[in-house]
Amino acid sequence: MVPQRDSPLPAAELFIAPGMCAGLEFAVNSKPTVCVLIRGPTNLHRGQLKRVIAIYPGTFDPPTNGHLDLIQRGSNIFDELVVAILRNPEKEPALFSLAERRAMLQSLTQPFDNVRVDTFGGLLVDYAMRVGARALLRGIRAISDYEYELQMALMNRKLDPQLETVFMMPAETYSYVSSRLVKEIVQLGGSVHGLIPDLVEKKLTEKVNGKISRQPPAVSRQEITSESRHRQPRGRRK
Ligand SMILES: Nc1ncnc2c1ncn2[C@@H]1O[C@H](COP(=O)(O)OP(=O)(O)O)[C@@H](O)[C@H]1O
Ligand SMILES: [Mg+2]
Repeated sequence: MVPQRDSPLPAAELFIAPGMCAGLEFAVNSKPTVCVLIRGPTNLHRGQLKRVIAIYPGTFDPPTNGHLDLIQRGSNIFDELVVAILRNPEKEPALFSLAERRAMLQSLTQPFDNVRVDTFGGLLVDYAMRVGARALLRGIRAISDYEYELQMALMNRKLDPQLETVFMMPAETYSYVSSRLVKEIVQLGGSVHGLIPDLVEKKLTEKVNGKISRQPPAVSRQEITSESRHRQPRGRRK
């Protein structure tokens, strides 16, 4: 059935047919359809017709505002973005469990309807193949990131030449933020307010305080006092 010309087209579908029927409106399976003329087959490769799924892989221990900045930028240019937490047995043990990181990221990415969270192990290129991703998103904060990221990108390209690595830069405000630094500062009692999402700040403080209070002190209070009696104050040592 051909929809009435003067009635608004309800959510018309785009029907692409090279060399055919430009501008015609008709129905496919009773859905109003707009037919667009594509001048040559090469136009089909320009990108606007393909859904691009990208993966944003990382450790996210914990997620920071730098990560979130990148997720927002990625969600603006890719059709679908999969935030993929690496199950990495080789890295130093994470502060947050995989389940905790997943829950935090899920809650933080709720506002983006084209972003989802997943976990993966093994080769990233194999995982990319499984989810049908054509791009990897990685962040470059400073030149110091570049060398490692370049090496990873080239190795991934060697393993799968079809998979493109896309680098993005966060806002300057987050260019010095890293998960490692954030953990260190909180563990030493400093404030990272504004550098990580409030939800993460709360969990991180709980985790660090919990860890400190659960661990038995290395030396007893008495030992500290008796030892310090024999020790010169720091600044005055010769
Ligand atoms: N503050 C930040 N701004 C932009 N990108 C960042 C920031 N922190 C981390 N990234 C990027 O996010 C990705 C994941 O980082 P991370 O969670 O540390 O995992 P990995 O173990 O892969 O380094 C990396 O590409 C990293 O460069
Ligand atoms: Mg890192």
